[in-house]
Amino acid sequence: MDRDVDRILIPRERIAERVRELADEIGRTYAADMNGGLTLVTILSGSLIFLADLIRCLPLRMKIGLITVSSYKGTTAGKVSILQQLNTNVTGRHVLLIDDILDTGGTLRLVRDQLSTAGPRSIRTCVLLRKPSKAPADVPADFVGFDIEDVFVVGYGLDFNDHYRNLPDIAVLKPEVYAGER
Ligand code: IMP
Ligand code: MG
Repeated sequence: MDRDVDRILIPRERIAERVRELADEIGRTYAADMNGGLTLVTILSGSLIFLADLIRCLPLRMKIGLITVSSYKGTTAGKVSILQQLNTNVTGRHVLLIDDILDTGGTLRLVRDQLSTAGPRSIRTCVLLRKPSKAPADVPADFVGFDIEDVFVVGYGLDFNDHYRNLPDIAVLKPEVYAGER
């Protein structure tokens, strides 16, 4: 796996530090109003490591909801579809949507629109990464870990064709890896 890495964009220590800062920001935001309860809705599979680290820094009473969405084939953004529906009811609850990366915004837009039909008390979004050169204005993120350049990254949950999620750092792969099918 390591020999496929071209360069490390964000090392694991920096991720851990920023996740703790994000948890502090989120904690302060919800401290003011937790009426109705809080559900963290996680967009699988890319967000699972981020979620696991974030919630252990977040000493709030919460439920976890899971929804599975697919959009990318290789490094190309495709049509977003929901593979598995949300497994919990968010009516009247505060929802914090968690995604690994805000790229073209198609994923967050779809999930947000769908959740809002359930009548939650509020919806906020938290992404570990954002590509500001592509993220559209109508899909804002309330909490952002890192703004990154427009490169295809893997690791810390993010995949290329479902591999490399277990890399502890966020990295860019060698061009020949993206070119070939693994
Ligand atoms: P969007 O719908 O274009 O905003 O893309 C969001 C989804 O595409 C994310 O949840 C990721 O799963 C995937 N994605 C976007 N950019 C990357 C990347 O650089 N590496 C890996 N996955 C990505
Ligand atoms: Mg994903």
